[in-house]
Amino acid sequence: MATALKPGGHETGFGKTQRTDAWWLGPGLTFLVFTGFLVYGTWAAFQNAHYWVGSESEHGFGGYLSPFYSPPLFMDPADAARPDTTPMSHAWFGEWPSWMKRWNEGGIWPTFMPLSPGFLILIFPGAFRFTCYYYRKAYYRSFGGSPPACAVPGPAWRNKIKYWGEKRLFLFQNLHRYALYFAVAFIFILGWDAWMSYFRDGVFGVGVGSLVLTVNVLLLSCYTFGCHSWRHLVGGKLDCFTCDGAVKARHGIWKKVSWLNERHQLFAWASLFWVAGSDVYIRLVSMGILHDFNTWGGH
Ligand code: FES
Repeated sequence: MATALKPGGHETGFGKTQRTDAWWLGPGLTFLVFTGFLVYGTWAAFQNAHYWVGSESEHGFGGYLSPFYSPPLFMDPADAARPDTTPMSHAWFGEWPSWMKRWNEGGIWPTFMPLSPGFLILIFPGAFRFTCYYYRKAYYRSFGGSPPACAVPGPAWRNKIKYWGEKRLFLFQNLHRYALYFAVAFIFILGWDAWMSYFRDGVFGVGVGSLVLTVNVLLLSCYTFGCHSWRHLVGGKLDCFTCDGAVKARHGIWKKVSWLNERHQLFAWASLFWVAGSDVYIRLVSMGILHDFNTWGGH
């Protein structure tokens, strides 16, 4: 059957291509994994449970806190009394303020959502990933088919829309540089959580959970500090790489950041899997389904 070719040799029609490789594998897997992550992340945030493994004592410090719930800004005292959630002392700002209580209790919180600390913080890493230059490429292809892959046409309706670049509706993508500042703050917060995971009731030790949380923060650091915006921040706008000591230092950092930047896609995926895996691990240990091998002897 004759096929319609555009000048340049490209076929027309959604998904029609002369490519013979498995071009659909990348966008297909991306679609499945991103969908799975969004579903799991939303489900986990709704649970408001099993995000903590640690001391039941208010005064002991240390324990495993799921990165999906860190930092807990506010806590419900009734929740904090349970062993599977963080003690009240971990809530940065204490109890939920009255204006943030449930709708039917006079606050603004939707009644169908639990007062879950996870909902307050997931927006920050979510915004960072959603506006990431790599993720844009990934979901424009896998969710928008725009286009699905190189030399593979997208849906016909796509051709009727004028290309504006990342302007107008997509202007929000420029928020990425601001989302970066929060992402860097989260590295320190999760780094602190990883450090605290080596303590149980103030006693130093090592558990599988400590290692899981340590790898988590390392992978997130490799992803965050390989960010294009970060690379510009540390080494952009320099006309000379050797003029003085400060500039030489910036150039040195820029080269290291460039190494991470070249592997940004790798760390985007690795950190995504690991952060979800960290939540799964802590959840299963907290539920008593998994045993955490550690030097403290409990859990
Ligand atoms: Fe991917 Fe900034 S470009 S995190």
